[in-house]
Amino acid sequence: MLNNLNLSNTEKERAAYGEARALVLLLCKECEAALSKLELSDEVLQAVSALLAESDEPFEIGKVSACSLLCGSKLRHIIIAGCGSGRECKPTAFKQAAGEAARALAAKKCERAVLAAPILLNPKRTPYLEAIAEGLYLGAYSFTLYKSKAEAPVTCDVKIVSACTAADLALKRALVKGQAVSMVRDLVNEPGNKLGPEELADFAKQVAAENGLSCEVLDREALKDLGCGALLAVGQGSVREPRLIALRYRGAGDAPYTAFVGKGITFDSGGLSLKPAANMGEMKDDMSGAAAVLGAVKAAAELQVPINLLAVLSCAENMPGGGAQRPGDIVTAADGQTIEVVNTDAEGRLVLADAVWYAAKQGAARIVDIATLTGAVITALGKETGGIIACDDGLAAAIKEAGRLAGELWWQLPTPPDLRKAIKGEEADLLNSTGSTVGGGCITGGLFIGSFVPKELPWAHLDIGGTASRAKAAGFVSKGGTGFGTLTLIKLTETLAAEGQR
Ligand code: BES
Ligand code: MN
Ligand code: ZN
Repeated sequence: MLNNLNLSNTEKERAAYGEARALVLLLCKECEAALSKLELSDEVLQAVSALLAESDEPFEIGKVSACSLLCGSKLRHIIIAGCGSGRECKPTAFKQAAGEAARALAAKKCERAVLAAPILLNPKRTPYLEAIAEGLYLGAYSFTLYKSKAEAPVTCDVKIVSACTAADLALKRALVKGQAVSMVRDLVNEPGNKLGPEELADFAKQVAAENGLSCEVLDREALKDLGCGALLAVGQGSVREPRLIALRYRGAGDAPYTAFVGKGITFDSGGLSLKPAANMGEMKDDMSGAAAVLGAVKAAAELQVPINLLAVLSCAENMPGGGAQRPGDIVTAADGQTIEVVNTDAEGRLVLADAVWYAAKQGAARIVDIATLTGAVITALGKETGGIIACDDGLAAAIKEAGRLAGELWWQLPTPPDLRKAIKGEEADLLNSTGSTVGGGCITGGLFIGSFVPKELPWAHLDIGGTASRAKAAGFVSKGGTGFGTLTLIKLTETLAAEGQR
């Protein structure tokens, strides 16, 4: 759920301060000198100076310092969030700080607040305003849908003091992105019993209807007719049937489509290659790629990005039911290649094999797939950085750059010849798992998917196995489903459109 915030822009700081019960200040080290320009009362300025003096590193990105003042008969809260120093003070630093501030603000349960930052007094800093608003929306996201006695949320009106040009547009863009990422987080946080492939398809249809997108849902029979043997094999162990969902957004006339393809395993038990019990419940997040793709196409439509997008969500539940596929089975993917299923827990690459083929068959000019594909990506890159495997370095670089601008980290991994060979089979064309001897599990997983993309098409695979969920909130990233990748994909639509690559 979005964070019960009503954001608006104001240029009249004194009037705004009067009504507010909380003051949020976003400060980087260099901004401190410009504090006086904010027209704060002496009383507040003194409290701010004291807070800054008390802390060792008050400007550290996301560091929150807070106190309360008695003003007349009312308590006023002051929340300062650090935004870094020098070259660190990018919009994404302010976005992180705003996320921390939003959580601190929510804890105060007040109905009126004002946010001020010296940087926003410069009319040219509109990207900072957008980043701050985005950070506020995303920071205090929480998932309380299933709490029978959830506390009634307090809606807070936050007036942002800024002189930025096109402020209303910046706030609107932030709202669109905030809503898209919150939708993705909601989907990721839904437990497996509530959200299966069919429910995800119904949800996607609703998103499509609300945004003027076309939406086609292929059920088991339709997938059989197309020969999607890899996706069907993963779904056959569950009583809930798989679905392939395809949405189209047409923002660029007859230009070719860019395809975003997402892994939508609504629960990954591992199948007959059953996962250990500890933390298996986390695998309700195994549809994070599909959710990110849905969030990105929704936002692109709302932002009216001049691009044509095909969003493919490849959905199944990976269960060990009586009809489940067995280790050792050989299945035939839609493109005709055969796969030996060495490990039923390497199911993401199977559902994506048919999905990237489908996207190419629909005429996509380039394909980006996104998936909680491996645990190996955590070994390689940790839990804050997504992995990129690509056949096209230009596309990989564009994704990395989009991520940098969006506040999400990515790193491209190499694709050496021995790992390309490792996925080749003896009895079938390909192996869905190489075992542990060759290593590089994140890379072989990506390369497997790439084997189903026609050679001439630029393709990149994004592994969000480490970044899709979090144990603890930090910056604008909430606890639980993070929506990681959504903002990168949204930014990518904008950069591709700007380059005329549509
Ligand atoms: N959904 C998992 C990947 C995953 C595991 C992400 C743990 C985050 C945390 C995926 O389907 C999977 O099980 N991958 C296997 C592949 C292996 C069997 C080749 C893995 O990473 O162990
Ligand atoms: Mn798995
Ligand atoms: Zn999985």
